[in-house]
Amino acid sequence: MSSKPPLILGIDTSCDDTGVGLVALEDGGPRVLANAVYSQSVHRSYGGVMPELASREHVERIRPTLDAALEEAGVRLQDVTLVAATRGPGLVGALLVGLTYAKGLAQGLGVPFRAVHHLEGHIAAAAAEGEPLEYPHLALVVSGGHTHLFDVHGPGDYRLVGATRDDAAGEAFDKVARLIGLGYPGGPAISRAAENGDASAVELPRPLQGQKGFDFSFSGLKTAALLAHRAGARPEDLAAAFQARAVEALVTTTRRAAVALERRAIVVSGGVAANRALREAFADTARRYRLEVRFPPGRLNTDNGAMIALSALRFLHDSASDADFEADAEAYLPLAAGPAPASLR
Ligand code: KG4
Ligand code: ZN
Repeated sequence: MSSKPPLILGIDTSCDDTGVGLVALEDGGPRVLANAVYSQSVHRSYGGVMPELASREHVERIRPTLDAALEEAGVRLQDVTLVAATRGPGLVGALLVGLTYAKGLAQGLGVPFRAVHHLEGHIAAAAAEGEPLEYPHLALVVSGGHTHLFDVHGPGDYRLVGATRDDAAGEAFDKVARLIGLGYPGGPAISRAAENGDASAVELPRPLQGQKGFDFSFSGLKTAALLAHRAGARPEDLAAAFQARAVEALVTTTRRAAVALERRAIVVSGGVAANRALREAFADTARRYRLEVRFPPGRLNTDNGAMIALSALRFLHDSASDADFEADAEAYLPLAAGPAPASLR
């Protein structure tokens, strides 16, 4: 290993954001020195991500995004001591761009390379600031592609507690926004529209009400929203009602799991963690149930490279391994194998 101070370069190209981040390890802990993200706008007119276009854009933007990150951090590429990139899950063509680029950088610099899991990045982003979290703790990942609740027993040790049975939370926000004509990406659009809406003006169902387990379901809610839309509900009221139900489901199920498993700390991350109503509801529950709930700092909510660098921190003291240079991009890649423990079902 080199004697240089630890500096991790992280790259994420799993979907439609080209993210390059730099994280230094200092006395007080990790510090995000740069978090450059190029958000592709070509997809807007399609109302969803076009995989082929995403790959092409990543190819074009990865170098400028790397340069932006180095400039923001005020460091040189030669100062980097470890390179990490997302191996999955995500769009294979998009993943391959960042993964291959990162391997090339590591090879050229003669430093170790680590291929990491996208969701581990999201979780690491939420734990980035403040005192290290006690283990075990819960981690709720809510993004455009995932709604997973994990029990985290240690660095890299995840057990699945619950997951969505159909749509991911962010996917549901995006679909409902499109159905009621609010545009893409739907999460921020619904959140804005909801400010001027009355949630009680539209009656929507409570998904999986009364379940013993800790799963999520959003497609019934989406269908109910569509029917209400056809029946003439105001988009603002629908946005407010949908958001209220989605937030309620996420917070209630996570809180029940925390109580059942006797966990005191929860991290909430992924794009939907940017939602203000969700943050407020979790903060309220945290007060009432004496829990600690942590969210990533603002710019680390949605996909980015800094979270990948943060998740690779645990490899800094690993003996160097070349195995990850062989890692392939994986569209489907579970973070924690197997179903939740039977005792929880
Ligand atoms: O983590 P992310 O950037 O990408 C994935 O890995 O999926 O998450 C993107 C998702 C989108 O579905 C977007 O609509 C949602 O996060 N999102 C939000 C908000 N901001 C982004 N959902 C609800 N409220 C928001 N403020
Ligand atoms: Zn993500």
